[in-house]
Amino acid sequence: MSEDFTYLENLISNRKVVRNYKKIEFDPEKLKNISKFSVKIPTAGFSRGIEILQVTNKQNIKNIAEHFNELEYIKKGKPKWISNSICLFFILLNENAYHQRYENPDKIKSVSSKDWDIPYWYVDAGAAMMNCMLLIEEQELKSGFMGLHNTDRDGIHKMLNVPNTYKIIGMITAGVEDNIGIDKKSKTKIKKKLVHYEQFNK
Ligand SMILES: Cc1cc2nc3c(=O)[nH]c(=O)nc-3n(C[C@H](O)[C@H](O)[C@H](O)COP(=O)(O)O)c2cc1C
Repeated sequence: MSEDFTYLENLISNRKVVRNYKKIEFDPEKLKNISKFSVKIPTAGFSRGIEILQVTNKQNIKNIAEHFNELEYIKKGKPKWISNSICLFFILLNENAYHQRYENPDKIKSVSSKDWDIPYWYVDAGAAMMNCMLLIEEQELKSGFMGLHNTDRDGIHKMLNVPNTYKIIGMITAGVEDNIGIDKKSKTKIKKKLVHYEQFNK
């Protein structure tokens, strides 16, 4: 903790994606509020089309790890990640909630959600993802993120009983870091200017 930073600034600067967890016992009750506060986000038009599915049951976590082909990664020398997670959080998108909201009389003059130049549901999903990661960090755990692009998406839907009208944005993992620093090699710290003041070129 740096005393020069606020509590939130410290939390944000300590957060990092960790993909190697220790197998430990952890009271899942402590994590109950994470999902609740993760979805406490602004949503476009207050459509509330972002939901979270939290998985803490050990056998369910093991089955999910198998679906994500964790064994293949372990065979390639990668550490245990998903199966050693204490908890998994799936970010779910209900895109219809946005379209239904924008059909309401008070939105009649707004650009239809079907014509948005930016699909705002992904913005909202990112907000929930970041809330979730920071809430995990606050519990002194480490978070990770895994998309479903290399996974049998339909199989995951079936396993979790998620209707096909929803889209799973991705899975956030929470666990206790093993071999602290093992992820460091993937962090090529090339300085990149990401913040601009007053004008883009400044
Ligand atoms: C939208 C998004 C998708 C990502 N997908 C994956 C993924 O499928 N697998 C993975 O291992 N990491 C994934 N990551 C994690 C990033 O690789 C990670 O955040 C990045 O390397 C920066 O690391 P840091 O958060 O520790 O600074 C994803 C991150 C984001 C924001």
